[in-house]
Amino acid sequence: MKGSIVLTLIVSVVCPVAHMARVFVYGTLKKGQPNYFRMENTSHGQAEFLTRARTVEPYPLVIATKYNIPFLLNRPGTGQRVLGEIYRVDQKMLDFLDRFEGCPERYQRTEIKLEVQDGDDGGENTPKPGSIEEAFVYSKHEPEWPLNQTYESYDAYGDHGLTYVLPEDRSPE
Ligand SMILES: *[C@@H]1O[C@H](CO)[C@@H](O)[C@H](O)[C@H]1NC(C)=O
Ligand SMILES: *[C@@H]1O[C@H](CO)[C@@H](O)[C@H](O)[C@H]1NC(C)=O
Repeated sequence: MKGSIVLTLIVSVVCPVAHMARVFVYGTLKKGQPNYFRMENTSHGQAEFLTRARTVEPYPLVIATKYNIPFLLNRPGTGQRVLGEIYRVDQKMLDFLDRFEGCPERYQRTEIKLEVQDGDDGGENTPKPGSIEEAFVYSKHEPEWPLNQTYESYDAYGDHGLTYVLPEDRSPE
């Protein structure tokens, strides 16, 4: 009982609630990547692509573990300014992503500053290229990993040959 209250408290701090939120994805959830289909599945909620963006600060984006999972390490100042995509998501999708990403054990969700690349031209709510936006990001607060190689832009099918493997504890849906 006590433990579950403490866990709820920890989860609410590390995975904050938001009604309509922005999420920056840089790995397997990007368009064309192995988990993108989950963003399109409306039984998980709504996700609307807003724009491509680049982190304002450099971060180490590494491919790690035996599953070759991309992780942005929460160590600003090292690595490269990472490219990814910003989505507007509803609470249902955010809850799904928290579960899928294993927040707060595997990844922690925090806010990050991003520079908008090419906006999805048109809509009033589309961020302007060059503007600075904030969004949630699933990153890893894990200071001890060696930085063998960092990437500017993740591609599961890139010539690094590190084929992404869906971990057993991640739902195939
Ligand atoms: C969408 O998600 C639901 C719930 O997890 C699942 O039952 C369904 O198979 C998924 N559809 C696709 C196309 O992945
Ligand atoms: C770095 O290389 C070592 C040895 O090959 C490997 O075990 C480890 O997973 C790698 N770490 C990262 C972050 O790529």
